[in-house]
Amino acid sequence: MYLKEIRIMDFRNYANLRVQPHQELNFITGPNARGKTNFLESVFFAGLGRTFRGHDRDIIRWDANRASVQAFFSLADSTVEVKAEIANEGKKKILINGAENGRQDMPGCFGIVLFKPDDLQIIKGSPGLRRDFIDNDLGVIEPLYRDTLYKYRRVLAHRNNLLRAGGDMGGENISIWNEQLYLYGAQVLSLRIRLLKKFFPLAKKAYSEISGAGEELGMRYLSTVKLSGTADAEQIAKDFRAEGKVREREELYKKQTTIGPHRDDLVFYLNGKDVRQFGSQGQVRSIVLALKTAQMRMFYHDTGEKPILLLDDVLMELDEARQHYLVDMIGDQIQTFITSATGKEKFSGQQGKIYLVDGFGFKELEEV
Ligand SMILES: Nc1ncnc2c1ncn2[C@@H]1O[C@H](COP(=O)(O)OP(=O)(O)O)[C@@H](O)[C@H]1O
Ligand SMILES: [Mg+2]
Repeated sequence: MYLKEIRIMDFRNYANLRVQPHQELNFITGPNARGKTNFLESVFFAGLGRTFRGHDRDIIRWDANRASVQAFFSLADSTVEVKAEIANEGKKKILINGAENGRQDMPGCFGIVLFKPDDLQIIKGSPGLRRDFIDNDLGVIEPLYRDTLYKYRRVLAHRNNLLRAGGDMGGENISIWNEQLYLYGAQVLSLRIRLLKKFFPLAKKAYSEISGAGEELGMRYLSTVKLSGTADAEQIAKDFRAEGKVREREELYKKQTTIGPHRDDLVFYLNGKDVRQFGSQGQVRSIVLALKTAQMRMFYHDTGEKPILLLDDVLMELDEARQHYLVDMIGDQIQTFITSATGKEKFSGQQGKIYLVDGFGFKELEEV
């Protein structure tokens, strides 16, 4: 898929902007703090209905009442129009081909893969960042995953509220939520395991392409619920239930739900060694690049559509070899938006458009 056209209104520093990007390469350059990332954010918002930094409401241009984005995505055999807007009070409205909530049936619209400098934190940062990667970056393709996770989070929030309220009240009442916690939690776990089963080999392969022979990437899902090695949701629910019962006293004391998919982690290994402890900066960069590559390939395998790639200020951060890998991969008919203050010469000889964002507007420069 690719983005044919995007119209942006009152989005960050853009009052009004209309862009018809190149089908492959779009290079967005200019000084800092003038709106390069803001533009990528608008493409992301059109594709996924949310921002990747701060609250969704933050995207509304200062002094405006609402932000809106209209985008036309070209899929294999159709064009899809997305209209997404958010108003001051936080209310969002997303229309797909004019219909509300059509998004469930349009997995193609979710094909946005973003790579930003913060993503390096995925490897060594807090477990929450790795769970976000699974939930937001990988799980987003599957409506069932999103719905199940949503239900689990709702039950978890109710249960934690009661635990926090404490006293006899808490103890008596959490039992109302336990069964749903185990059930939805087990479904989330089951779906995560299936998702990662597809994802791991792709990431492993991409890593070996990037780093060459000699280094093998390993990954392991570390669950706080002891799993008996199956992805079967019913079996996992049994495991979760059994352990949940044992934990209940401790949870009343700690006032939080201490096990479940919301506490799990993903660990990366290189040649069997835990990357959190032993990984060099270069290795971390290669792993993140491999994760993003695998994410793109998985999306393609699952939907038959090539995703759109957004590279926010990461290209020049990579060394020559990794830049080459990325540029080669992009060359494969993947629509790409790259922001960078420098480096447009990297793409000489390739077809594409260059945009200059200099605070006096968003200007299309010469074709590359
Ligand atoms: N809601 C908003 N309304 C208007 N301007 C905003 C809003 N949010 C951020 N900005 C402005 O956007 C600019 C940063 O844009 P950004 O795209 O992050 O820059 P860069 O070109 O470095 O990627 C800042 O000047 C900031 O003041
Ligand atoms: Mg930026």
